[in-house]
Amino acid sequence: MDCTFGGGGHAKEILGKMDNRGCLIALDRDVEAVSRGLELKKEHPNLKVLHRNFTEVKDVANEEGVFGKVNGILADLGTSMFQLKNPERGFSFSTDGPLDMRMDTSTDLTAADVLNTYPEEELIRIFRDYGEERHARRIAREVVARRKRNPYRNTLAFARLIEDIYGGRRGRIHPATLCFQALRIAVNEELEVLSRFLDCALEVLAVNGRLVVISFHSLEDRIVKNFFRNKSRNCICPPSQARCTCGGDNAQVRVLTRKVVRPSQWELDRNPASRSSRLRAAEKLEIPS
Ligand SMILES: C[S@@+](CC[C@H](N)C(=O)[O-])C[C@H]1O[C@@H](n2cnc3c(N)ncnc32)[C@H](O)[C@@H]1O
Repeated sequence: MDCTFGGGGHAKEILGKMDNRGCLIALDRDVEAVSRGLELKKEHPNLKVLHRNFTEVKDVANEEGVFGKVNGILADLGTSMFQLKNPERGFSFSTDGPLDMRMDTSTDLTAADVLNTYPEEELIRIFRDYGEERHARRIAREVVARRKRNPYRNTLAFARLIEDIYGGRRGRIHPATLCFQALRIAVNEELEVLSRFLDCALEVLAVNGRLVVISFHSLEDRIVKNFFRNKSRNCICPPSQARCTCGGDNAQVRVLTRKVVRPSQWELDRNPASRSSRLRAAEKLEIPS
């Protein structure tokens, strides 16, 4: 299962390595990605593409009759180049577009709704927790002050506000990068869905099946790292307990990436967008009966 089809780059690689006994089920919450998948399906009948959130991976596996039988599950988190490069989707601060940022355009909440309606305290939390933005408080205060006169509609208006607070643009990284990331995470509930997904994915896998997750910022990577760490523990007794009483044989996964995998120089030269990616993988263990 490729749970984040996107532009289909990974799906093509997987399909190329699979014979006709294999089947790839691809999901994406973005209907445009699903259309691309349906194009690819014309060349690969053993590809199935579904417009689903990966939090529904258990339902999908049940519907497709593969629950507990899946050999590999991949999630390549974040936004695709197709989403980033289309100004109409509102993910980019370099070209003007509506402040949308929904990966699934059939949902209601847009980035403009967040900026125009959320209380100041909630905006501070979003910019601080999801963007690790050092000026979270000032930016939230300014958003609330300006939205009364001019509600936010477009990406560049919000990017300019942040530039004003930073006193212009300096260096290679645009000052709006962290707040755009924060808004996107809030609109798409990215951290909540990731936690839900990991638990479900583990259930769907066959024994010895592998779960591979590629994340693009430390907030996501921390969730994946802690999940793998917890699930690979043999002892699940509370830390306050002096002696183990749980049997000490409770590990559900074996972590395959003792150190997180970062892109090599070779990859960076060919694919600069992989700069901040981090890959972690684990294999499902047989649960002793
Ligand atoms: C980084 S791109 C994937 C790129 C893909 N691996 C490729 O090779 O082209 C991430 C994709 O995951 C999708 N996505 C993000 N969160 C999702 C979720 N919760 N459920 C399903 N798809 C999601 C996005 O819509 C986007 O198309």
